[in-house]
Amino acid sequence: MQISVIGCGYLGAVHAACMADLGHTVVGVDVDVTKVDALNAGIAPFFEPGMPEMLADALASGRLTFTTDIAAVKDCKVHFLTVGTPQRKNEKAADLTFVNGAIEALLPHLLPEAIVVGKSTVPVGTAARLSDQIQESCPDAILIWNPEFLREGFAVSDTLSPNRLVYGIRPGHDEATLVLDEIYASALHAGVPRIITDFATAELVKVAANAFLATKISFINAMAEVCEVSGADVVQLADAMGHDPRIGRKFLNAGLGFGGGCLPKDIRAFMARAGELGADQALTFLREVDSINMRRRSRTVDLAREVCGGSLLGKKIAVLGLAFKPNSDDVRDSPALSVAAQLQLQGASVVATDPKAVTNSAKRFPDLVLTESLEEAVRGADAIMVLTEWQEYVSMDPYELASLVATRTIVDGRNCLDPEKWRSAGWTYRALGRPQL
Ligand code: UDX
Repeated sequence: MQISVIGCGYLGAVHAACMADLGHTVVGVDVDVTKVDALNAGIAPFFEPGMPEMLADALASGRLTFTTDIAAVKDCKVHFLTVGTPQRKNEKAADLTFVNGAIEALLPHLLPEAIVVGKSTVPVGTAARLSDQIQESCPDAILIWNPEFLREGFAVSDTLSPNRLVYGIRPGHDEATLVLDEIYASALHAGVPRIITDFATAELVKVAANAFLATKISFINAMAEVCEVSGADVVQLADAMGHDPRIGRKFLNAGLGFGGGCLPKDIRAFMARAGELGADQALTFLREVDSINMRRRSRTVDLAREVCGGSLLGKKIAVLGLAFKPNSDDVRDSPALSVAAQLQLQGASVVATDPKAVTNSAKRFPDLVLTESLEEAVRGADAIMVLTEWQEYVSMDPYELASLVATRTIVDGRNCLDPEKWRSAGWTYRALGRPQL
């Protein structure tokens, strides 16, 4: 099938490459000429496992091209809308400038019976408005709202093998869903559940799921706060709680909390939208979820100060990990990068490293001392802070590192290290929500 993908950021670039991989002919459109040139040259503007190979294969097959010219979509039957919906400056609400701009640009090029598939994360009510706008200018064109649930680091496999497909449609538009079924045929053959619902429910599934995940993380981080004052161990607590299948162990990892381009902005936009609809009370708990999350960052800075004997001034701190999570170079709202910057602002002499996120970190905080080398970061350190749980940090050898540091002190901001392994090698090990032995 001939399809277009409008907006080639994280979501769109991966979606376009995966759709071409499935055998469709895809044109990806973006307003950013640098991004388009890079993608056409086979370079993804972000790090994502499996994406370079997928992109190279799709481009070589001739089924995938990227362009800044929206007119290139004129022969496509289906158009995926994958533009970003960032948080508005100094506000909580989502900025729909890119969504509105994309629809306006697309309308003059729609085939009479085109299908527009919305994948961006939008405030509930957006799809109904866009559907009216599309039908006004193109009465037989149809909008389907098909939210995307992919996780960074797993974007390719989540796109090819999603755990559910949700189609939001207007009554009477059921036939259009068959076209989307054809596009997603391989996932449907593999038995993925498909839920057909109304626009509002489809839009809400995405933000409700992200709000739930954020709440689960903040719940365990709130328990970590209680563990810290009562001498309990949040990791053992989470393990024991997680054995209850109604609760489950996933997303109960206490530590520095959530960041990235989705969870923080999505819960804020969700609160703002609920407020506009007069249901602000329903989501006041998300304010608490957000503040528990932000408190973990300041607690981590306090812990660094504590292990440095009460003052950060002049202390050399090695920060390991800057990305908001492992297997990503994304530092948007990254707890790790924010803690690194705070430590430096409070007088520590920080040397930070990350396997993939050094370049992006330098763009955000040009004053931060960064290195690609783990060894360089830890040499002479008064304390090591592990702030993103990359596998290379999880598997570090405490005996090898001992000869490089000034003081054998390690702070585990992600509860990803084995305390016993470090303590038995003579290290002071401290972690969020775990007792100090
Ligand atoms: C999230 C959703 O998972 C995904 O479904 C949605 O489409 C986009 O937003 P992503 O932002 O890629 O995906 O990251 P995710 O794996 O959810 O992690 C988000 C943050 O929570 C990370 O900073 C991670 O370190 C943190 N986290 C996760 C915890 O602090 N504890 C946990 O137990 C799990």
